[in-house]
Formats: sequence, structure tokens, C-alpha cells
Amino acid sequence: MNITSAEFVISNSNVDMCPHTDMPEYAFIGRSNVGKSSLINMLTNRSKLAMTSATPGKTLLINHFLINKQWYLVDLPGYGYAQRGKSMMEKIRKLIEGYVLKREEMSCLFVLVDSRLEPQKIDLQFIEWLGENGVPFAIIFTKADKLGTGKLKTNINNYLEKLKEQWEELPPYFISSAEKKTGREEILNYIEKVNKMLKEQ
Ligand code: GTP
Ligand code: MG
Repeated sequence: MNITSAEFVISNSNVDMCPHTDMPEYAFIGRSNVGKSSLINMLTNRSKLAMTSATPGKTLLINHFLINKQWYLVDLPGYGYAQRGKSMMEKIRKLIEGYVLKREEMSCLFVLVDSRLEPQKIDLQFIEWLGENGVPFAIIFTKADKLGTGKLKTNINNYLEKLKEQWEELPPYFISSAEKKTGREEILNYIEKVNKMLKEQ
């Protein structure tokens, strides 16, 4: 799929204030610093569309980006960044929970996990919670450029094995690198496929 336009629309601190449209949207979630905002920039080929930072806790609001004037990408704050302090973490937790459970326009939630790490409890618990609530999701393994091919394969296989303990059927998954643009075509094709499916319904 070609990205012909990508525009920032609005930031919100509450799901009830997000734009109400009949367009599908795709949101990115995961631990702080996993690479959500970088991935949005990589997918849209715009280096400064979403704000990124080497320090965790950069994205604090729900950010809507209109793509090809037809669908949205949504950048969300990360979870699990304890240095923020208890009340800020609670605020972010509520914001994420509200968005994920209430946002009817959300067609798929991409859960980003760092391909370098062993399966993290916080991600597995989040994924389990998605399952309990019937939220459609896919997994994206990020920062693939930071690993050699062998190690990358091993880590991903380990992750899938871990998921099989929870799930009869594995969710769709993708491998990405914002640096090297790995996974761009696959993720955009998947979005295109879901967009088409929704149109035909
Ligand atoms: P929060 O908004 O704080 O939740 O973080 P985020 O998940 O949006 O992460 P962000 O995109 O801001 O990236 C965090 C850091 O990781 C930045 O320094 C990025 O340059 C780096 N990064 C993101 N993706 C990749 C990648 O694919 N490869 C490499 N090498 N670095 C990456
Ligand atoms: Mg971010």
C-alpha cells in the first residue's frame, strides 16, 4: 500500500474526546520505549510525524494520525514505566484501558514487544487481558536490527512457544525495525487487508 498522505489530527487525554468517524483505526501499544512512535514514523515514511525519544515516557496522550484520508494510526503512551510515579502510572493505565475497551473504531491493536528480550510478564499479562476482553490484536517484534538473525529467530520462537501456553491459535505477528524499515510492507499489507474486509462487511 502506498502512503500518499499522513497528517497529525489531534491529541487527547480521554478516549471520549477522540474524533468520531466511520473510519477504521489501528493503534500501537507496548512498554515505554519499545518503539511505538518510531514505528508510526517508519510506516508513514515521515521522520517527525510522531514524537520519539531515547528516554521512556515520551508519548503521554492518545494521538490520532489520518492516513490517506481513509484510516487512522493511533500512537498511545507506553505502559510499565515505573519512574513516572504512582499517580502518573495510574493515569496512563486508565487512559490505555479506556481507549482499548471503549474505542469502537479500533480495528486492530498492535502490541509491540522488544525482540531482544525474554517474554516479559507485563506484556504477557497485557496480552492475556486483551484475550479476556475480546480485543482484536496482532504482535510486532521491534528493534530487530539490534540482533543477529540467529538470535532473532530464537527469541521469536521462544515468544511464540510462550504464547502457545495461553492461546490455542497464535495471533498474527510481524518483525520490524524502524531503523532498517523491516516489516513495513507486511504491516501495511495487513492493514490494507483488514480495511478491505471491513468495507465488504
Ligand atoms: P514512549 O512514547 O515513551 O512509550 O516510547 P515509544 O514506544 O514510542 O518509543 P520511541 O519510538 O520513542 O523509541 C524509543 C527509542 O528506541 C528511541 O531512541 C528510538 O530511536 C529507538 N528505536 C525505536 N525503534 C527502533 C528500531 O527499530 N531499531 C533501533 N535500533 N532503535 C529503535
Ligand atoms: Mg511514543
